[in-house]
Amino acid sequence: MSGLYIFKNFAELSESESAEVLRGRNDPEVRRWMTTDRVIGEEEHRSFVASLRHSPSAVYIRIERAGFFLGVYSLNDIQAGSALGGFWTTEHARRRMLALNVVYQGMDHMFRRFGVDRIYGYQRVDNHSALRLNGLLGLQPCCEDPGEEIQLRKIQITREQWQRRTVSDSRLQKLLRRTEELNGE
Ligand SMILES: CC(C)(COP(=O)(O)OP(=O)(O)OC[C@H]1O[C@@H](n2cnc3c(N)ncnc32)[C@H](O)[C@@H]1OP(=O)(O)O)[C@@H](O)C(=O)NCCC(=O)NCCS
Repeated sequence: MSGLYIFKNFAELSESESAEVLRGRNDPEVRRWMTTDRVIGEEEHRSFVASLRHSPSAVYIRIERAGFFLGVYSLNDIQAGSALGGFWTTEHARRRMLALNVVYQGMDHMFRRFGVDRIYGYQRVDNHSALRLNGLLGLQPCCEDPGEEIQLRKIQITREQWQRRTVSDSRLQKLLRRTEELNGE
């Protein structure tokens, strides 16, 4: 799998890569699950990307496989080794059954490259696909109740659990490998 996936920080994107990200983010299937579900304009996107260049607490990565843009993995509120993870996938990834592989690759990249010790997330309880996908990747519900008006569940995984459980889960690795084989290079 190595070399097939390319990870690019938003700060390094070309104009066309950045435009592709904005199109993917504005896909109704994606934005309906985001905190901000309205359509994002070009100027707003540009200034968001620019703001990331100076932000020590957030990182957004564009994930590409074999020349196709497949999705984004992000870390926000990075502090004391913990970060709030987030992701979305493109229509191409979803059609090719690559969503699990993209999120796996995104998380693995974040744990390796950015040295975080724990990734946590706030999962909407009605986002069934994301719930099951996060479950396959070893994220576990954890104690606190965020108490928001939308029903959210807090989930998390430590780097140690990621390496010990997820990376060495032979069933998961088989699923990932088979999807890669079916999709070719
Ligand atoms: C969430 C998201 C990544 C899921 O993508 P998707 O293409 O619908 O995902 P898939 O159907 O491939 O995977 C989800 C489901 O397949 C299962 N699955 C995925 N790959 C699998 C595999 N190789 N083998 C077995 N099961 C698999 C998951 O357990 C889950 O089960 P379900 O079919 O009962 O829902 C996508 O819908 C998305 O980008 N949504 C918008 C953003 C979002 O919701 N982000 C999450 C915020 S926490």
